[in-house]
Amino acid sequence: MATALLCVLCVFFCLTSSQNFKLKFKPATKPVRLFTEEELRRYDGSEEAQPVYMAVKGVVFDVTTGKEFYGKDAPYNALVGKDSTRAVAKMSLDPADLTSDTSGLSEEQLTSLDSVFEGTYKTKYPIVGYTASRILKEDGSPDEDFKPEDQPQFQIKDEF
Ligand code: HEM
Repeated sequence: MATALLCVLCVFFCLTSSQNFKLKFKPATKPVRLFTEEELRRYDGSEEAQPVYMAVKGVVFDVTTGKEFYGKDAPYNALVGKDSTRAVAKMSLDPADLTSDTSGLSEEQLTSLDSVFEGTYKTKYPIVGYTASRILKEDGSPDEDFKPEDQPQFQIKDEF
């Protein structure tokens, strides 16, 4: 009888304490990795053992599984190790377009950019971080409006 009572108490305790646990420790958001231009450059596919990263619209994707496109000597290798938003929008490999600058792009190019961003990059490749210019304002302070593509509950104030 005493054992049965203990069991009931124990189950009750476990249930209530796990409720508390849930309340006190809300699921944490993953920290967001910030890439400087210099850091991103290390992942340009030139080293076989390193992963291959590229950014589109300030989002850094791990494109290692697309090595046939992006690896050393592959056709789109010029796009990696940097933010190539403009090149993707224009479908251009011109060195002048290997930049995050979207100024002066046409409506059609911006629409095409969004469709490749959503349909190819976000669908096919894991997000590993964000470029400094996506996370910070021009003066280097955190951009309060920053929202990671993959973590809707993330709040930048939790990081500082
Ligand atoms: C004669 C010119 C081109 C041809 C024939 C061509 C062909 C292709 C093909 C067949 C694919 C799909 C491969 C697959 O999903 O299996 C592809 C993907 C792609 N192409 Fe091109 N392409 C050309 C030029 C360009 C240029 C100039 C760019 C410049 C940015 C570009 C950027 C891309 C990108 C970003 C992808 C997606 C790769 C991925 O899935 O990660 N392409 N291209």
